[in-house]
Amino acid sequence: MKIIVTGGAGFIGSAVVRYTVGILGWNVLNIDKLTYAGNLSSLRDIANKENYAFLKADICDPNTIRKALNEFQPNMVLHLAAESHVDRSIDGPAEFIRTNLVGTYQMLDAAYLYWHTLSDEKKGTFRFHHISTDEVYGSLGEAGFFTEQTPYDPRSPYSASKAGSDHLVKVWFHTFGLPVIVTNCSNNYGPYHFPEKLIPLMILNALDRKPLPVYGNGNDIRDWLYVEDHCKAIDMVARSGRPGEVYNIGGHNERANLVIVKTVIDYLNKTADRFVDETLIKHVDDRKGHDRRYGINPEKIKNDLGWYPETPFDQGIIKTIDWYLNNKEWVNDVASGEYQKYYADRYE
Ligand code: NAD
Ligand code: DAU
Repeated sequence: MKIIVTGGAGFIGSAVVRYTVGILGWNVLNIDKLTYAGNLSSLRDIANKENYAFLKADICDPNTIRKALNEFQPNMVLHLAAESHVDRSIDGPAEFIRTNLVGTYQMLDAAYLYWHTLSDEKKGTFRFHHISTDEVYGSLGEAGFFTEQTPYDPRSPYSASKAGSDHLVKVWFHTFGLPVIVTNCSNNYGPYHFPEKLIPLMILNALDRKPLPVYGNGNDIRDWLYVEDHCKAIDMVARSGRPGEVYNIGGHNERANLVIVKTVIDYLNKTADRFVDETLIKHVDDRKGHDRRYGINPEKIKNDLGWYPETPFDQGIIKTIDWYLNNKEWVNDVASGEYQKYYADRYE
């Protein structure tokens, strides 16, 4: 199997690359622009493998993407490249529209041109798999879950750009016949998560005994999934998912933000630093347009493909915190320069 992964130097992308190169032994070309969120230090363990290659490129650059497809001849594209941080999308939506919408269009256009050059047999098995988010469905009240039928109701520039990209991908199936699949996943957590996101931010701030900035009252709920379980879902969808279909991915693991923060504090207090405690929590201004609750109903992927999340949150969060304790060099690598400025502007 030959696959192109876009955004493979980011958090989920690097996990997908490690999984497909290392565990599945597939031939992988990773295309990534290496923005602030993309780091080759996340891929050190597989960088020299024979079945892995890296191309630094922007998905908005059609010539480079077309050339890469024609030369590499993939059986599948796993499209993850995106601007992914909601707060940054509120501060500056333009890059989100460019990469997430225009970039996805360029990927579709290039994939379609390439697909036409394939034999009928290869055309039938080719897949363009678009990795998307549950945020396209908006915000839930206290009851109910997102299903594949939930109407789109994006509420941040990030989620609107992802919603638009989902629509484009579906259009390339309905109008042009490109065999696409869309997956909408809930919040991932695990190793190599960029420090700007809730869980790594809380771990790293606590270790520095810095304030833990909780937006609003901290009662907002996210549905957390260990990143390797997302990789397994992507693998199952890649092998057995049906073109034109949408699959929601999530583990029925809803937690309020404050509960997450207290879990991190508790574990660090017991294992790393007894001065880490709840006095570090600082309630700060709420996120503009903050979505209150996400929760996925994963029945379709469970029933159709047999996927289920294997990592219970209590184990996954310990693995994650331990990883950050043991990988300070990675943190120093990725959290320098641009990130220090971003952090100071937002939090100080
Ligand atoms: P991330 O921000 O950690 O990584 C994004 C990667 O894309 C980076 O390596 C970056 O360099 C690359 N990139 C950005 N713009 C690019 C461009 N123009 N051309 C080429 N590469 C570019 O993001 P993530 O959290 O790993 O998310 C990956 C994908 O999964 C995104 O599409 C996101 O919407 C989706 N997703 C994320 C989550 C989550 O919880 N993190 C959940 C569901 C879906
Ligand atoms: O649901 C999937 C989405 O999950 C993905 O599509 C996004 O790419 C990914 O970034 C994530 O979005 P969230 O906005 O849910 O993640 P974030 O880690 O930014 O925030 C999680 C929750 O924590 C959210 O309710 C906001 C809150 N928060 C976040 C930060 C950074 C805080 O209270 N304080 C903070 O400092």
